[in-house]
Amino acid sequence: MHRPRRNRRTPAIRSMIRETSLAPADFILPLFFHEEEEDVAIASMPGVTRWSLESLVKEAGEAHALGIPAVVLFPKIDEALKTPAAEEASNIEGLVPRAIRRLKAAHPTLCVITDVALDPYNSDGHDGIVQRDESGELSILNDETVWVLCEQALCHARAGADIVAPSDMMDGRVEAIREALDDEGFIQVSILSYAAKYASAFYGPFRGALDSAPKDGDKKTYQMDPANSREAIREARLDDAEGADMLMVKPAGPYLDVIAKIRAETTLPIAAYQVSGEYLMLKNAATSGWLDEKAIVLESLIAIKRAGADMILTYFAKQACGWLKE
Ligand code: PBG
Repeated sequence: MHRPRRNRRTPAIRSMIRETSLAPADFILPLFFHEEEEDVAIASMPGVTRWSLESLVKEAGEAHALGIPAVVLFPKIDEALKTPAAEEASNIEGLVPRAIRRLKAAHPTLCVITDVALDPYNSDGHDGIVQRDESGELSILNDETVWVLCEQALCHARAGADIVAPSDMMDGRVEAIREALDDEGFIQVSILSYAAKYASAFYGPFRGALDSAPKDGDKKTYQMDPANSREAIREARLDDAEGADMLMVKPAGPYLDVIAKIRAETTLPIAAYQVSGEYLMLKNAATSGWLDEKAIVLESLIAIKRAGADMILTYFAKQACGWLKE
């Protein structure tokens, strides 16, 4: 008789046959920050803070000391700086380039990843440039946006970013950004492409954290339909061919099948983003007292690894490092 339970009999045996593991090196910590001096608790994401520049540097240092190799930066841009063409996105004296310079000066071994998309900067709250026709119908201009994204990526590279992560879902942007970076000599700057980014309702708390929700319309003409997975493979193949160094799937937990399918399709490393809504659900569920926070968070993270992700962007990164050490 086959007895699979023999392989589960003792902790020693279970540890030998364990197929997947979690370590601090798997995590990328997303960080929110703003121009203000005060740190502000983010109402939509209990336990997450929007930092001043000074606190951002301190927080990133704490995360790095725990073994977290990388952070990804999400700025809250002053309303007054937002314009239809998002010029502020490539201002070398802007909030993000200043943050990059301070982070790299304070923590030279920390990998700094930046988000490349226009939503924090354009007055429409879309990831690309918005055009309206006479009837007020809105469209997101692809190629015009790609040009601005290249400028934004170059700005981040000049400030010292290690990796730029286009999250905008415009067509052709990976190739264009690669060319722009190479032309200026930034051959060492990597591209982590949000290859399969879904038009997900799970981003709600993030948009609350940054005041970056679209003012009008939704993101369904550029972000993917949650009903599709073959299309994710198409996106992944294109970004691979265009020169991406790493691919991302986002959200993570509800899209484990997509992670697994892309894993089977590409030799590139895969990152998965456990997004703000996934964070909020786990946090609030734990608050009910009926679920053990440590257990459900570690289970959610190991599931993402098991599906095929090499790296996980998660707001739980620091907490998880603590739990893994226990
Ligand atoms: C913006 C961006 C979003 C997230 C990361 N980059 C929001 C969006 O696309 O609307 C969401 C992350 C999260 O929910 O944690 N390009």
